[in-house]
Amino acid sequence: MAGKDVHDDYPLKDYKYHCCSDLLEGKVAFVSGGGSGIGFRIAELLMRHGCNVAIGSRRIDKLEQSAKDLSKATGRQCLPVQIDVRKYDTVLKAMKQTLNAFGSIDILINSAAGNFLCPVSSMSSNAFKTVLEIDTMGTFNCCKAAFDTYMKDHGGCIINISATLYFKGDAYQAHAGSAKAAIDALTRHLAVEWGPLNIRINSVLPGPIEGTEGFRKLGGAVEGAEEFLESSIPLGRCGTRTEIAEACLFLASPLSSYVNGSLLVVDGGAWLTSGFANFSSKL
Ligand code: NAP
Ligand code: COA
Repeated sequence: MAGKDVHDDYPLKDYKYHCCSDLLEGKVAFVSGGGSGIGFRIAELLMRHGCNVAIGSRRIDKLEQSAKDLSKATGRQCLPVQIDVRKYDTVLKAMKQTLNAFGSIDILINSAAGNFLCPVSSMSSNAFKTVLEIDTMGTFNCCKAAFDTYMKDHGGCIINISATLYFKGDAYQAHAGSAKAAIDALTRHLAVEWGPLNIRINSVLPGPIEGTEGFRKLGGAVEGAEEFLESSIPLGRCGTRTEIAEACLFLASPLSSYVNGSLLVVDGGAWLTSGFANFSSKL
């Protein structure tokens, strides 16, 4: 099990290396949603293993602070870039900025997403569309821009952060579940189309991850949630951001050189037994 996690968007105080710290030496990564939460920790571990990283999202002040903290903790360069993943031109511009600064984009992590609990009976058409646009269109836009600007000629590695919500049809998550199902379909389609160009595409599907916005949005802070999760998740606890980042480290590295088109569930076995949003929807 990983060491103690840090819940705020601040680098770990100490990190026990499981892989050599030069595992990704000289590589460049682009992390959408890398200024906070799971994306922040993914950016940190990629940097700790040799990458320079661009982190992109809407809030530039938040990105600038995170980039400073990440560079200070890891000794690597971190470029904050303002993007709205729904708008292809902002993503394309940010990819070009990254190429100008670092010379390549070898790894793309799609972690940007939006979510809230909402029954379909009171969900507007625009609410459903908004989440589909951020999650699914956003993932497509980043994949396409990375492909057009760099990967089509040089190969690369793409990791889409998805979720297990649609496996069992979790309550109040029709928008996010549909969006993530489409992302996982995209993972498989791209793996087939782009595999011959030496681009590997995989999904990582986290379970409930403590101390994150996604966890809070699904009711993680409400009374009874912790006890429910401890008793229903086979490993008896929520996951940490570091555990998700380490799964991404594996998929971004030569350790997984023959893994393409896979959906890697990192949830302690949670989806087999719990359905956290089903619990939250009954509160
Ligand atoms: P988070 O910190 O809120 O991360 C989401 C990121 O997306 C934020 O940095 C946000 O930054 C960015 N973002 C949102 N809309 C955007 C847009 N239109 N354009 C560009 N960036 C945008 O939440 P998290 O919990 O760490 O979630 C990270 C990923 O893990 C998501 O894909 C989520 O679905 C997945 N996940 C999380 C959990 C969990 O328990 N936390 C479980 C399963 C899956 P700005 O506001 O600055 O744009
Ligand atoms: N319940 C029901 N509908 C909601 C909602 C909620 N909690 N929050 C937003 N909506 C609806 C809005 O009412 C609007 O629909 P309408 O025009 O028919 O009224 C639509 O969703 C878009 O909302 P808006 O606030 O304009 O979208 P935005 O683009 O500014 O923000 C969100 C996107 C709503 C997803 C916002 O929560 C966000 O930016 N999230 C990013 C962080 C996050 O969710 N992290 C967790 C990742 S898993």
